[in-house]
Amino acid sequence: MYEIAIIEGDGIGKEVIAAGKYLLEELDIDFNFKYAEAGYDCFLKNGTVLPEETIKIAKESDAILFGAVTSTPGQPSTILNLRQALNVYANLRPVKSFAGVESIKPDIDFLIVRENTEGLYSETEYEKEGKFIAERHITKEACERIARVAFEECKKKNKSKVTCVHKANIMKLTDNVFKDSFYKVASEYPEIETEDYYVDAAAMYLITKPETFDVIVTTNLFGDILSDEGTGLVGGLGLAPSGNIGEEYGLFEPVHGSAPDIAGQNIANPCSMILTVAMMLDYLNESETADKIKIAVENVLKKGKIVTPDLGGSASTMEMAEAIVDELKGGI
Ligand code: NAI
Ligand code: MG
Repeated sequence: MYEIAIIEGDGIGKEVIAAGKYLLEELDIDFNFKYAEAGYDCFLKNGTVLPEETIKIAKESDAILFGAVTSTPGQPSTILNLRQALNVYANLRPVKSFAGVESIKPDIDFLIVRENTEGLYSETEYEKEGKFIAERHITKEACERIARVAFEECKKKNKSKVTCVHKANIMKLTDNVFKDSFYKVASEYPEIETEDYYVDAAAMYLITKPETFDVIVTTNLFGDILSDEGTGLVGGLGLAPSGNIGEEYGLFEPVHGSAPDIAGQNIANPCSMILTVAMMLDYLNESETADKIKIAVENVLKKGKIVTPDLGGSASTMEMAEAIVDELKGGI
């Protein structure tokens, strides 16, 4: 029996969570779900975007499933503070092309490992004598820690190369710490190939030669931007899962936000969440089930019949989720 904390959040967060929970309930594994609040609706109700009770429930669970939230003006970021409260320092964002879905190249399969605790996400901004300053925090400890995650993921996935992405020609102090830490950790993995690119060139190479990447490790903001770019290469945010991992906790969420433009219409693509659930099951050492879910998603996408409007179909969120569950149970 696994204890799963569920944070639906706002907008399509609630809709994709419903699809993910439906899938979990159809598996031959026992889960106990505990709902917790966070985000914009939560702020309107409780005056905070992230109640202490939510952090408590998250910490008492075996894993946390998070939908998406709408940012609340004037309030700290919900997801950022949750990641920090749980010290989930590695954000893993796989980018993969699927048969049946338009992709810039057919054979894309790489993982973005985004540093989750530092960089420009310090939320430390202030004005000093007419200058508006945003602080970018970098420590050797966090850089080495995230580099190690990237090399370990590379080994685990039987991949051969880790690419470090930075801007050390301009941010000479902070990003050379990131780059130097990367090569220091790389020396512990002589069997793994390495390379590094400036972020601007990397953004182009993701378009011109995306099939050459295996694992990309980068700082917080670059990871945020490049991972949305990555999803754009292979069919969009509706197919993009992610996991936030630390020493003690695992927090799993689609890459996308609350998508106010399509919220309430039951047309959000559930694959982002269903693949996120598969990542969560991998983390819980239920890898066999996780693999089966990924294959079921691949098959439904390949058939292309029951897919949501972002992929050119007319299925609703739950219709597509049901098609994936049917596929998982032996095809229809
Ligand atoms: P977004 O990721 O919500 O949406 C961007 C575009 O992708 C929209 O056109 C949306 O319709 C589409 N899209 C996203 N997920 C989809 C899905 N599952 N199926 C089909 N189409 C999908 O980003 P946006 O619009 O910039 O932000 C909306 C709100 O979400 C903002 O308040 C933002 O701050 C917040 N946000 C929250 C995140 C989180 O909770 N982790 C992450 C990113 C944004
Ligand atoms: Mg983002």
